[in-house]
Amino acid sequence: MSSKTTVISQEALQQQLGYCNEILQYWRQRNRTPLAYVETYGCQQNEADSERIRGMLIESGYAITQEAEGADVVVMNTCAIREHAEQRVFGNLGALTHTKRRHSTQKIFLCGCMAGQEHVVQRIKKSYPHVDGVFSTHHLWQFPQLLLQVLTTGKRQYFVEDEAGSIAEGLPQQRDSKLKAWVSIMYGCNNFCTYCIVPYVRGRERSRKSCDILTECRQLIDSGVKEITLLGQNVNSYGKDLDEGVDFADLLQKIAQIPGDFLIRFMTSHPRDAGKKLFDTMAASPKIAKQLHLPFQSGSSRVLKAMNRHYDRDTYLQAVTYAKSVMPELVLTSDVIVGFPGETEEEFEETISLIQQVRYDALFTFIFSPRAGTPAAGMEDPTTKEEKNRRFDRLCAVQNAISEEIHAEYIGKTYRCLIDGKDNDLLTARTEGGRLVRLSGGDEHIGTFADITVTGSNTWSLTGTFATKE
Ligand code: SAH
Ligand code: SF4
Ligand code: F3S
Repeated sequence: MSSKTTVISQEALQQQLGYCNEILQYWRQRNRTPLAYVETYGCQQNEADSERIRGMLIESGYAITQEAEGADVVVMNTCAIREHAEQRVFGNLGALTHTKRRHSTQKIFLCGCMAGQEHVVQRIKKSYPHVDGVFSTHHLWQFPQLLLQVLTTGKRQYFVEDEAGSIAEGLPQQRDSKLKAWVSIMYGCNNFCTYCIVPYVRGRERSRKSCDILTECRQLIDSGVKEITLLGQNVNSYGKDLDEGVDFADLLQKIAQIPGDFLIRFMTSHPRDAGKKLFDTMAASPKIAKQLHLPFQSGSSRVLKAMNRHYDRDTYLQAVTYAKSVMPELVLTSDVIVGFPGETEEEFEETISLIQQVRYDALFTFIFSPRAGTPAAGMEDPTTKEEKNRRFDRLCAVQNAISEEIHAEYIGKTYRCLIDGKDNDLLTARTEGGRLVRLSGGDEHIGTFADITVTGSNTWSLTGTFATKE
Protein backbone atom coordinates (compact mmCIF):
# COMPACT_ATOMS: atom_id res chain seq x y z
CA MET A 1 0.00 0.00 0.00
CA SER A 2 1.33 3.43 -0.78
CA SER A 3 0.82 6.52 1.34
CA LYS A 4 -2.20 8.63 0.31
CA THR A 5 -1.20 11.66 2.33
CA THR A 6 0.45 14.63 0.59
CA VAL A 7 3.08 16.54 2.52
CA ILE A 8 3.65 20.16 1.49
CA SER A 9 7.13 20.40 -0.03
CA GLN A 10 10.00 22.11 1.81
CA GLU A 11 10.37 24.50 -1.17
CA ALA A 12 6.75 25.61 -0.82
CA LEU A 13 7.22 26.16 2.92
CA GLN A 14 10.48 28.06 2.35
CA GLN A 15 8.56 30.30 -0.03
CA GLN A 16 6.09 31.10 2.79
CA LEU A 17 8.99 31.92 5.13
CA GLY A 18 10.24 34.22 2.35
CA TYR A 19 6.88 36.04 2.46
CA CYS A 20 7.28 36.37 6.25
CA ASN A 21 10.58 38.10 5.59
CA GLU A 22 8.97 40.47 3.06
CA ILE A 23 6.33 41.40 5.66
CA LEU A 24 9.12 42.01 8.18
CA GLN A 25 10.80 44.38 5.69
CA TYR A 26 7.46 46.11 5.00
CA TRP A 27 7.22 47.05 8.70
CA ARG A 28 10.92 47.91 9.03
CA GLN A 29 10.48 50.47 6.28
CA ARG A 30 7.68 51.99 8.32
CA ASN A 31 9.81 51.91 11.47
CA ARG A 32 7.20 50.09 13.52
CA THR A 33 6.75 46.86 15.43
CA PRO A 34 3.24 45.86 14.37
CA LEU A 35 0.78 44.21 16.77
CA ALA A 36 -1.30 41.08 16.10
CA TYR A 37 -4.29 39.65 17.96
CA VAL A 38 -5.47 36.07 17.41
CA GLU A 39 -8.81 34.98 18.86
CA THR A 40 -9.58 31.27 19.05
CA TYR A 41 -13.00 29.60 19.08
CA GLY A 42 -13.70 25.87 19.21
CA CYS A 43 -11.61 22.87 20.07
CA GLN A 44 -7.96 22.04 20.78
CA GLN A 45 -7.29 21.60 17.04
CA ASN A 46 -8.05 25.28 16.65
CA GLU A 47 -5.92 26.16 19.68
CA ALA A 48 -3.02 24.33 18.03
CA ASP A 49 -3.69 26.09 14.70
CA SER A 50 -3.71 29.46 16.48
CA GLU A 51 -0.27 28.65 17.88
CA ARG A 52 0.89 28.18 14.27
CA ILE A 53 -0.77 31.42 13.15
CA ARG A 54 0.98 33.28 16.00
CA GLY A 55 4.24 31.57 15.01
CA MET A 56 3.92 32.85 11.43
CA LEU A 57 3.01 36.34 12.66
CA ILE A 58 6.03 36.50 14.99
CA GLU A 59 8.22 35.30 12.12
CA SER A 60 6.81 38.24 10.13
CA GLY A 61 7.83 40.75 12.82
CA TYR A 62 4.55 41.07 14.74
CA ALA A 63 4.30 41.25 18.52
CA ILE A 64 1.29 39.43 19.98
CA THR A 65 -1.27 41.50 21.88
CA GLN A 66 -4.25 40.37 23.96
CA GLU A 67 -6.87 42.70 22.44
CA ALA A 68 -8.24 43.70 19.06
CA GLU A 69 -8.13 47.41 19.92
CA GLY A 70 -5.05 48.92 18.32
CA ALA A 71 -3.89 45.68 16.66
CA ASP A 72 -2.56 45.91 13.11
CA VAL A 73 -3.75 42.38 12.38
CA VAL A 74 -6.77 40.61 13.89
CA VAL A 75 -7.27 36.90 13.15
CA MET A 76 -10.52 35.19 14.12
CA ASN A 77 -9.91 31.43 14.16
CA THR A 78 -13.46 30.11 14.09
CA CYS A 79 -15.53 27.02 14.95
CA ALA A 80 -18.55 25.72 13.02
CA ILE A 81 -19.61 22.85 15.25
CA ARG A 82 -22.90 24.42 16.44
CA GLU A 83 -24.97 27.40 15.42
CA HIS A 84 -24.24 29.17 18.70
CA ALA A 85 -20.48 29.08 17.96
CA GLU A 86 -21.07 30.72 14.56
CA GLN A 87 -23.39 33.37 15.98
CA ARG A 88 -20.73 34.42 18.48
CA VAL A 89 -18.20 34.84 15.68
CA PHE A 90 -20.55 36.92 13.53
CA GLY A 91 -21.37 39.08 16.56
CA ASN A 92 -17.72 39.67 17.44
CA LEU A 93 -16.82 40.20 13.79
CA GLY A 94 -19.46 42.94 13.61
CA ALA A 95 -17.92 44.65 16.65
CA LEU A 96 -14.57 44.86 14.81
CA THR A 97 -16.01 47.58 12.54
CA HIS A 98 -15.45 49.90 15.54
CA THR A 99 -11.83 48.91 16.22
CA LYS A 100 -11.12 49.31 12.51
CA ARG A 101 -12.78 52.74 12.43
CA ARG A 102 -10.37 53.84 15.18
CA HIS A 103 -7.38 52.22 13.42
CA SER A 104 -8.09 52.39 9.69
CA THR A 105 -5.08 50.30 8.59
CA GLN A 106 -6.16 47.36 10.77
CA LYS A 107 -6.37 44.14 8.72
CA ILE A 108 -8.99 41.58 9.73
CA PHE A 109 -8.88 37.89 8.83
CA LEU A 110 -11.32 35.05 9.34
CA CYS A 111 -10.06 31.47 9.28
CA GLY A 112 -10.76 28.08 10.83
CA CYS A 113 -13.72 25.80 10.34
CA MET A 114 -16.33 28.44 9.40
CA ALA A 115 -14.08 29.53 6.52
CA GLY A 116 -14.52 26.05 5.04
CA GLN A 117 -18.21 26.70 4.35
CA GLU A 118 -19.18 28.36 1.07
CA HIS A 119 -22.26 30.07 2.55
CA VAL A 120 -20.12 31.69 5.26
CA VAL A 121 -17.61 32.97 2.70
CA GLN A 122 -20.49 34.44 0.65
CA ARG A 123 -21.93 36.13 3.74
CA ILE A 124 -18.54 37.66 4.60
CA LYS A 125 -18.11 38.89 1.02
CA LYS A 126 -21.54 40.50 1.02
CA SER A 127 -22.12 41.78 4.54
CA TYR A 128 -18.72 42.17 6.23
CA PRO A 129 -16.69 44.48 3.96
CA HIS A 130 -14.26 45.26 6.78
CA VAL A 131 -12.90 41.67 6.63
CA ASP A 132 -9.72 41.73 4.52
CA GLY A 133 -9.03 38.04 4.10
CA VAL A 134 -10.55 34.59 4.57
CA PHE A 135 -8.62 31.31 4.60
CA SER A 136 -9.82 27.78 5.32
CA THR A 137 -7.88 25.23 7.40
CA HIS A 138 -6.41 23.72 4.21
CA HIS A 139 -4.69 27.03 3.49
CA LEU A 140 -3.40 27.82 6.98
CA TRP A 141 0.22 27.28 5.90
CA GLN A 142 -0.22 29.96 3.19
CA PHE A 143 -1.23 32.68 5.65
CA PRO A 144 2.04 34.67 5.12
CA GLN A 145 1.30 34.88 1.38
CA LEU A 146 -2.27 36.00 2.00
CA LEU A 147 -1.22 38.60 4.57
CA LEU A 148 1.46 40.01 2.26
CA GLN A 149 -1.03 40.24 -0.62
CA VAL A 150 -3.50 42.12 1.58
CA LEU A 151 -0.79 44.51 2.81
CA THR A 152 0.63 45.25 -0.62
CA THR A 153 -2.51 45.29 -2.80
CA GLY A 154 -5.05 46.56 -0.24
CA LYS A 155 -7.53 44.13 -1.85
CA ARG A 156 -9.59 41.46 -0.11
CA GLN A 157 -8.17 37.95 -0.52
CA TYR A 158 -9.81 34.53 -0.28
CA PHE A 159 -7.84 31.30 0.11
CA VAL A 160 -10.80 28.97 0.45
CA GLU A 161 -10.68 26.43 -2.39
CA ASP A 162 -11.53 22.95 -1.17
CA GLU A 163 -8.22 21.07 -1.30
CA ALA A 164 -7.72 17.31 -1.08
CA GLY A 165 -5.97 17.87 2.23
CA SER A 166 -2.28 17.85 3.00
CA ILE A 167 0.16 18.11 5.87
CA ALA A 168 2.55 20.99 6.42
CA GLU A 169 5.56 20.02 8.56
CA GLY A 170 7.84 22.58 10.17
CA LEU A 171 5.58 25.65 10.37
CA PRO A 172 6.72 28.16 12.99
CA GLN A 173 4.69 27.72 16.17
CA GLN A 174 4.33 29.99 19.19
CA ARG A 175 3.31 27.64 22.00
CA ASP A 176 1.07 29.07 24.73
CA SER A 177 2.67 27.06 27.52
CA LYS A 178 6.15 25.85 28.35
CA LEU A 179 4.73 23.02 30.45
CA LYS A 180 1.99 21.55 28.33
CA ALA A 181 1.95 21.07 24.58
CA TRP A 182 -0.54 20.06 21.92
CA VAL A 183 0.85 17.75 19.26
CA SER A 184 -1.40 17.18 16.25
CA ILE A 185 -0.89 13.63 15.07
CA MET A 186 -3.48 13.75 12.31
CA TYR A 187 -5.87 16.12 10.60
CA GLY A 188 -9.41 15.79 9.22
CA CYS A 189 -12.00 13.07 9.69
CA ASN A 190 -13.49 10.27 7.58
CA ASN A 191 -16.38 9.33 9.80
CA PHE A 192 -19.18 11.55 8.55
CA CYS A 193 -21.36 11.29 11.62
CA THR A 194 -24.65 12.55 10.19
CA TYR A 195 -24.85 15.61 12.48
CA CYS A 196 -21.25 16.76 12.12
CA ILE A 197 -19.68 19.48 9.96
CA VAL A 198 -16.03 18.60 10.71
CA PRO A 199 -15.32 16.29 7.73
CA TYR A 200 -16.65 18.97 5.37
CA VAL A 201 -14.52 21.77 6.77
CA ARG A 202 -11.35 19.89 7.72
CA GLY A 203 -11.21 17.35 4.92
CA ARG A 204 -10.23 13.69 4.91
CA GLU A 205 -8.16 11.95 7.56
CA ARG A 206 -4.41 12.31 7.14
CA SER A 207 -1.74 11.19 9.58
CA ARG A 208 1.66 12.70 10.19
CA LYS A 209 4.58 10.33 9.85
CA SER A 210 5.45 8.74 13.19
CA CYS A 211 9.09 9.88 12.90
CA ASP A 212 7.98 13.54 12.63
CA ILE A 213 5.71 13.17 15.66
CA LEU A 214 8.45 11.48 17.69
CA THR A 215 10.99 14.16 16.80
CA GLU A 216 8.55 16.87 17.89
CA CYS A 217 7.78 15.06 21.17
CA ARG A 218 11.48 14.54 21.91
CA GLN A 219 12.20 18.22 21.34
CA LEU A 220 9.31 19.24 23.59
CA ILE A 221 10.43 16.94 26.41
CA ASP A 222 14.03 18.14 26.08
CA SER A 223 12.77 21.72 26.39
CA GLY A 224 11.04 20.91 29.70
CA VAL A 225 7.46 20.12 28.61
CA LYS A 226 5.78 17.84 31.19
CA GLU A 227 2.53 17.01 29.47
CA ILE A 228 1.88 16.23 25.82
CA THR A 229 -1.66 15.98 24.47
CA LEU A 230 -1.90 14.19 21.14
CA LEU A 231 -4.64 15.65 18.98
CA GLY A 232 -6.87 14.30 16.24
CA GLN A 233 -10.61 14.03 15.59
CA ASN A 234 -10.31 10.28 15.80
CA VAL A 235 -6.85 9.38 17.08
CA ASN A 236 -7.62 5.66 17.01
CA SER A 237 -7.57 5.60 13.23
CA TYR A 238 -4.04 7.07 13.24
CA GLY A 239 -1.80 5.58 10.55
CA LYS A 240 -4.48 4.01 8.37
CA ASP A 241 -3.53 6.33 5.49
CA LEU A 242 0.21 5.67 5.85
CA ASP A 243 2.25 2.64 4.84
CA GLU A 244 4.25 2.51 8.07
CA GLY A 245 2.37 -0.28 9.85
CA VAL A 246 2.20 1.89 13.00
CA ASP A 247 -1.24 2.21 14.61
CA PHE A 248 -2.23 4.57 17.43
CA ALA A 249 -1.35 2.14 20.22
CA ASP A 250 2.09 1.61 18.64
CA LEU A 251 2.59 5.37 18.40
CA LEU A 252 1.65 5.83 22.06
CA GLN A 253 4.12 3.17 23.06
CA LYS A 254 6.93 4.76 21.04
CA ILE A 255 6.29 8.17 22.62
CA ALA A 256 6.12 6.63 26.10
CA GLN A 257 9.60 5.16 25.52
CA ILE A 258 11.16 8.63 25.19
CA PRO A 259 13.28 9.18 28.36
CA GLY A 260 12.04 11.84 30.81
CA ASP A 261 9.37 12.57 33.39
CA PHE A 262 6.24 13.45 31.44
CA LEU A 263 2.63 12.43 30.84
CA ILE A 264 0.88 11.69 27.57
CA ARG A 265 -2.79 12.47 27.02
CA PHE A 266 -4.79 12.22 23.81
CA MET A 267 -8.12 13.14 22.29
CA THR A 268 -10.51 12.27 20.77
CA SER A 269 -11.08 8.54 20.74
CA HIS A 270 -13.89 7.18 18.60
CA PRO A 271 -15.51 4.13 20.23
CA ARG A 272 -15.63 2.47 16.81
CA ASP A 273 -11.84 2.04 16.74
CA ALA A 274 -10.91 2.07 20.44
CA GLY A 275 -10.14 -1.52 21.38
CA LYS A 276 -8.29 -3.83 23.71
CA LYS A 277 -4.86 -3.10 22.22
CA LEU A 278 -5.22 0.60 23.05
CA PHE A 279 -6.47 -0.03 26.59
CA ASP A 280 -3.75 -2.62 27.28
CA THR A 281 -1.10 -0.18 26.01
CA MET A 282 -2.47 2.56 28.29
CA ALA A 283 -2.55 0.21 31.26
CA ALA A 284 1.04 -0.94 30.69
CA SER A 285 2.74 2.47 30.61
CA PRO A 286 3.02 4.77 33.61
CA LYS A 287 3.64 7.68 31.22
CA ILE A 288 0.24 7.37 29.54
CA ALA A 289 -2.39 9.14 31.65
CA LYS A 290 -5.24 6.91 32.77
CA GLN A 291 -7.71 9.28 31.20
CA LEU A 292 -10.04 8.55 28.33
CA HIS A 293 -12.43 10.86 26.50
CA LEU A 294 -14.73 8.41 24.72
CA PRO A 295 -17.78 10.21 23.28
CA PHE A 296 -20.88 7.99 23.17
CA GLN A 297 -23.31 10.67 21.80
CA SER A 298 -26.43 8.62 22.61
CA GLY A 299 -27.44 5.63 24.72
CA SER A 300 -29.88 4.38 22.08
CA SER A 301 -28.63 1.97 19.43
CA ARG A 302 -31.29 3.22 17.01
CA VAL A 303 -30.11 6.82 17.38
CA LEU A 304 -26.45 5.75 17.10
CA LYS A 305 -27.27 4.09 13.79
CA ALA A 306 -29.02 7.25 12.56
CA MET A 307 -25.92 9.19 13.63
CA ASN A 308 -23.72 6.80 11.58
CA ARG A 309 -21.53 6.06 14.60
CA HIS A 310 -20.74 2.41 13.72
CA TYR A 311 -21.14 1.01 17.26
CA ASP A 312 -24.14 0.26 19.41
CA ARG A 313 -24.96 0.59 23.09
CA ASP A 314 -23.73 -2.90 23.95
CA THR A 315 -20.39 -2.71 22.14
CA TYR A 316 -19.77 0.70 23.71
CA LEU A 317 -20.49 -0.65 27.18
CA GLN A 318 -18.27 -3.67 26.56
CA ALA A 319 -15.38 -1.38 25.57
CA VAL A 320 -15.83 0.70 28.73
CA THR A 321 -16.06 -2.39 30.93
CA TYR A 322 -12.82 -3.73 29.48
CA ALA A 323 -11.03 -0.37 29.82
CA LYS A 324 -12.07 -0.11 33.47
CA SER A 325 -11.05 -3.72 34.14
CA VAL A 326 -7.46 -3.09 33.02
CA MET A 327 -7.34 0.47 34.46
CA PRO A 328 -9.41 0.60 37.66
CA GLU A 329 -8.30 4.19 38.27
CA LEU A 330 -9.43 5.34 34.80
CA VAL A 331 -11.01 8.81 34.57
CA LEU A 332 -13.64 8.62 31.88
CA THR A 333 -15.29 11.58 30.14
CA SER A 334 -17.59 11.80 27.14
CA ASP A 335 -19.68 13.92 24.77
CA VAL A 336 -23.42 13.49 24.40
CA ILE A 337 -26.04 15.05 22.14
CA VAL A 338 -29.68 15.41 23.21
CA GLY A 339 -32.52 16.07 20.81
CA PHE A 340 -31.03 14.38 17.73
CA PRO A 341 -33.82 14.42 15.08
CA GLY A 342 -36.44 11.80 15.95
CA GLU A 343 -35.02 10.99 19.42
CA THR A 344 -37.98 9.72 21.46
CA GLU A 345 -38.49 10.09 25.20
CA GLU A 346 -37.62 6.38 25.63
CA GLU A 347 -34.44 6.81 23.61
CA PHE A 348 -33.47 9.80 25.72
CA GLU A 349 -34.05 7.66 28.83
CA GLU A 350 -31.57 5.15 27.36
CA THR A 351 -28.99 7.95 27.36
CA ILE A 352 -29.77 8.66 31.01
CA SER A 353 -29.48 4.99 31.94
CA LEU A 354 -26.15 4.68 30.11
CA ILE A 355 -24.78 7.63 32.08
CA GLN A 356 -25.97 6.07 35.32
CA GLN A 357 -24.41 2.75 34.37
CA VAL A 358 -21.02 4.10 33.25
CA ARG A 359 -20.78 6.93 35.82
CA TYR A 360 -18.58 9.38 33.88
CA ASP A 361 -16.31 11.70 35.81
CA ALA A 362 -17.50 14.55 33.59
CA LEU A 363 -19.64 14.97 30.51
CA PHE A 364 -19.78 17.56 27.70
CA THR A 365 -23.47 17.92 26.89
CA PHE A 366 -24.90 19.45 23.72
CA ILE A 367 -28.33 20.08 22.23
CA PHE A 368 -28.45 18.99 18.59
CA SER A 369 -27.74 21.91 16.26
CA PRO A 370 -28.56 21.42 12.55
CA ARG A 371 -25.53 22.13 10.32
CA ALA A 372 -26.19 23.06 6.70
CA GLY A 373 -25.08 20.34 4.30
CA THR A 374 -25.07 17.48 6.83
CA PRO A 375 -27.62 14.63 6.49
CA ALA A 376 -29.13 15.21 9.94
CA ALA A 377 -30.04 18.80 9.06
CA GLY A 378 -32.59 17.37 6.61
CA MET A 379 -34.07 14.78 8.99
CA GLU A 380 -37.55 15.18 10.38
CA ASP A 381 -37.37 16.66 13.86
CA PRO A 382 -40.77 16.85 15.58
CA THR A 383 -39.47 17.44 19.12
CA THR A 384 -40.02 21.00 20.35
CA LYS A 385 -37.24 23.27 21.56
CA GLU A 386 -38.81 23.36 25.02
CA GLU A 387 -38.84 19.56 25.20
CA LYS A 388 -35.15 19.43 24.14
CA ASN A 389 -34.27 21.99 26.80
CA ARG A 390 -36.09 19.93 29.40
CA ARG A 391 -34.14 16.79 28.39
CA PHE A 392 -30.91 18.76 28.45
CA ASP A 393 -31.57 20.09 31.98
CA ARG A 394 -32.45 16.61 33.24
CA LEU A 395 -29.28 15.17 31.69
CA CYS A 396 -27.11 17.85 33.30
CA ALA A 397 -28.73 17.32 36.70
CA VAL A 398 -28.12 13.56 36.57
CA GLN A 399 -24.50 14.02 35.51
CA ASN A 400 -23.76 16.79 38.00
CA ALA A 401 -24.89 14.57 40.86
CA ILE A 402 -22.61 11.77 39.60
CA SER A 403 -19.62 14.11 39.18
CA GLU A 404 -20.15 15.45 42.68
CA GLU A 405 -20.27 11.93 44.15
CA ILE A 406 -17.16 10.80 42.28
CA HIS A 407 -15.25 13.92 43.33
CA ALA A 408 -16.23 13.41 46.99
CA GLU A 409 -14.52 10.00 46.85
CA TYR A 410 -11.18 11.77 46.23
CA ILE A 411 -11.23 13.33 49.70
CA GLY A 412 -8.51 12.05 52.02
CA LYS A 413 -6.55 10.39 49.19
CA THR A 414 -3.20 11.51 47.78
CA TYR A 415 -2.51 11.95 44.05
CA ARG A 416 0.57 12.80 42.03
CA CYS A 417 -0.32 15.99 40.16
CA LEU A 418 1.36 18.39 37.77
CA ILE A 419 1.19 21.92 39.18
CA ASP A 420 0.50 23.97 36.08
CA GLY A 421 -0.30 27.54 37.09
CA LYS A 422 -1.98 29.99 39.40
CA ASP A 423 -5.55 31.24 39.45
CA ASN A 424 -6.79 33.85 41.94
CA ASP A 425 -3.86 33.32 44.34
CA LEU A 426 -4.25 29.53 44.39
CA LEU A 427 -2.02 27.06 42.58
CA THR A 428 -3.77 24.90 40.00
CA ALA A 429 -2.82 21.28 39.46
CA ARG A 430 -4.12 18.31 37.48
CA THR A 431 -4.36 14.74 38.65
CA GLU A 432 -3.18 12.08 36.22
CA GLY A 433 -6.85 11.67 35.25
CA GLY A 434 -7.01 15.37 34.42
CA ARG A 435 -9.13 16.54 37.38
CA LEU A 436 -8.47 20.11 38.54
CA VAL A 437 -7.10 20.61 42.09
CA ARG A 438 -6.57 24.03 43.73
CA LEU A 439 -4.17 24.52 46.62
CA SER A 440 -2.13 27.16 48.44
CA GLY A 441 1.56 27.43 47.67
CA GLY A 442 4.33 29.50 46.16
CA ASP A 443 5.06 30.05 42.49
CA GLU A 444 8.22 27.94 42.74
CA HIS A 445 6.01 24.80 42.59
CA ILE A 446 4.70 25.62 39.12
CA GLY A 447 6.08 23.16 36.60
CA THR A 448 6.70 20.36 39.07
CA PHE A 449 4.95 17.10 39.87
CA ALA A 450 3.87 16.87 43.52
CA ASP A 451 1.88 14.58 45.82
CA ILE A 452 -1.31 16.36 46.80
CA THR A 453 -3.85 15.22 49.39
CA VAL A 454 -7.41 16.14 48.46
CA THR A 455 -9.28 17.92 51.24
CA GLY A 456 -12.44 19.18 49.54
CA SER A 457 -14.54 18.77 46.41
CA ASN A 458 -17.49 20.01 44.39
CA THR A 459 -19.07 19.07 41.05
CA TRP A 460 -16.32 20.65 38.97
CA SER A 461 -13.07 20.52 40.92
CA LEU A 462 -11.09 19.54 44.01
CA THR A 463 -9.12 21.38 46.67
CA GLY A 464 -6.03 20.01 48.40
CA THR A 465 -2.78 20.50 50.27
CA PHE A 466 0.76 19.26 49.72
CA ALA A 467 0.97 15.73 51.14
CA THR A 468 3.01 15.47 54.32
CA LYS A 469 6.06 13.29 53.87
CA GLU A 470 6.12 10.08 55.95
N1 SAH B 1 -14.23 13.97 16.80
C1 SAH B 1 -14.86 13.98 18.04
C2 SAH B 1 -15.80 15.12 18.29
C3 SAH B 1 -15.57 16.45 17.72
S1 SAH B 1 -16.86 17.59 17.89
C4 SAH B 1 -15.63 12.70 18.18
O1 SAH B 1 -16.08 12.12 17.22
O2 SAH B 1 -15.86 12.33 19.30
C5 SAH B 1 -17.16 17.62 19.63
C6 SAH B 1 -18.55 17.24 20.00
O3 SAH B 1 -19.49 18.19 19.53
C7 SAH B 1 -19.05 15.93 19.44
O4 SAH B 1 -18.58 14.82 20.14
C8 SAH B 1 -20.54 16.07 19.56
O5 SAH B 1 -21.00 15.63 20.82
C9 SAH B 1 -20.75 17.57 19.45
N2 SAH B 1 -21.38 17.93 18.17
C10 SAH B 1 -20.87 17.78 16.94
N3 SAH B 1 -21.74 18.22 16.01
C11 SAH B 1 -22.84 18.65 16.68
C12 SAH B 1 -24.09 19.21 16.28
N4 SAH B 1 -24.39 19.38 15.00
N5 SAH B 1 -24.97 19.53 17.26
C13 SAH B 1 -24.67 19.35 18.56
N6 SAH B 1 -23.52 18.83 19.00
C14 SAH B 1 -22.61 18.48 18.06
FE1 SF4 C 1 -17.48 14.73 13.68
FE2 SF4 C 1 -17.91 12.16 13.89
FE3 SF4 C 1 -15.64 13.02 12.81
FE4 SF4 C 1 -16.07 13.33 15.42
S1 SF4 C 1 -15.87 11.38 14.32
S2 SF4 C 1 -15.29 14.85 14.01
S3 SF4 C 1 -18.27 13.69 15.51
S4 SF4 C 1 -17.68 13.27 11.95
FE1 F3S D 1 -15.09 23.50 15.93
FE2 F3S D 1 -13.59 22.89 13.90
FE3 F3S D 1 -12.97 21.99 16.29
S1 F3S D 1 -15.79 22.96 13.90
S2 F3S D 1 -14.92 21.82 17.31
S3 F3S D 1 -12.99 24.09 15.68
S4 F3S D 1 -12.66 20.94 14.35
